[in-house]
Amino acid sequence: MDKIFDVKKMLRFCYIWSAGVSCRPFLTVNNTQQTKDKKHILAISGSLRSNSSNNAVINTAATLVAGEVDFIIYEGLGSLPHFDGSDDPAPEVVNFRKFVRDADGVLICTPEYAFGVPGSLKNALDWTVSTGEFVNKPVALITAATGGDKAHASLLLTLTALSARVADKGTLLLPYIRAKMNANGEVTDTATLEAIKNIMDTFINDLRSEPDLL
Ligand SMILES: Cc1cc2nc3c(=O)[nH]c(=O)nc-3n(C[C@H](O)[C@H](O)[C@H](O)COP(=O)(O)O)c2cc1C
Repeated sequence: MDKIFDVKKMLRFCYIWSAGVSCRPFLTVNNTQQTKDKKHILAISGSLRSNSSNNAVINTAATLVAGEVDFIIYEGLGSLPHFDGSDDPAPEVVNFRKFVRDADGVLICTPEYAFGVPGSLKNALDWTVSTGEFVNKPVALITAATGGDKAHASLLLTLTALSARVADKGTLLLPYIRAKMNANGEVTDTATLEAIKNIMDTFINDLRSEPDLL
């Protein structure tokens, strides 16, 4: 018997609709509303850990640029399915691609796990290979780990494969990140705060000098 409608597709449509309206997998920082004149930065943490030092670095960056940009923290990394090359991917993937596409620039902040890029972050990036959301996208990269140099280099290679635009001054490696935070999980080390402020200022200036393509 012919199916009158495709239940799976309908459920997906409902999910996309509801995600767009109410339960969005992101957090807007600094602004209750996105504004047209401000640059729009999407921040992605490579860590899903509850007391993540990379989440702390992202929160620090958000605080340091408060009011200057629309700063959106993507929180859906853990909900993305494993990359399988599907032409009709889950709504979480569609949403993630849209977040990247809509951003003027993307800040990635990641730890190093077992000498590599965390699998969940790499998985998210893999979902954009065929659709090209990172092509020419300005990206700033902060790697905050114990050492972090291997994940940092590996992610830069991946970003090159994605044709993302990473400026010379758009990368920051923060080793021994745990020692630069207090017991409340906040970044407190002065030199680290200064380095985060510097990379964010440079990134925002670069974004402001971009021709507006939207
Ligand atoms: C499973 C695991 C593996 C790790 N492997 C490395 C590693 O290979 N190199 C490194 O520099 N740090 C490594 N670390 C230390 C983390 O980079 C460090 O704890 C960092 O603060 C974790 O970031 P997060 O708190 O945002 O998850 C590892 C930590 C975990 C939990």
